[in-house]
Amino acid sequence: MMYSEKVMEHFMNPHNVGEMENPDGVGEVGNPQCGDIMRIYLRIENDVITDAKFMTFGCGAAIASSSMATDLIKGKTLEEAWKITNKAVAEALNGLPPVKMHCSVLAEEGIHKAINDYREKQGLEPLEEKPDADCCG
Ligand code: FES
Repeated sequence: MMYSEKVMEHFMNPHNVGEMENPDGVGEVGNPQCGDIMRIYLRIENDVITDAKFMTFGCGAAIASSSMATDLIKGKTLEEAWKITNKAVAEALNGLPPVKMHCSVLAEEGIHKAINDYREKQGLEPLEEKPDADCCG
């Protein structure tokens, strides 16, 4: 299987790894296909993600996706971050092998869960996850 150089870079040297104390939102998701787990932590100020961290127990593609996804959402509004798809994460990594696309879905779902965790803490309705039928190509 061929990973892009960008994937290898983020896998060997992931950005934003670690736990966050008192995060404003946390999302934990698991991949039923492989049992891998990803947790995303968000620091949010005035609806802007000022910091993001992750802990991922998973394959190289999942770790690279978490690293890239947390990079992408930093500085974004919650609305912008919600719209970041797994495909956008995979593209930013210069592509993932087709059998590894589902690993990037963890990152999209983790961000969504963390944003909804924050919304619930604020007493807001959770945003709807739209079914992404063609997520895994
Ligand atoms: Fe499990 Fe990639 S194989 S997330």
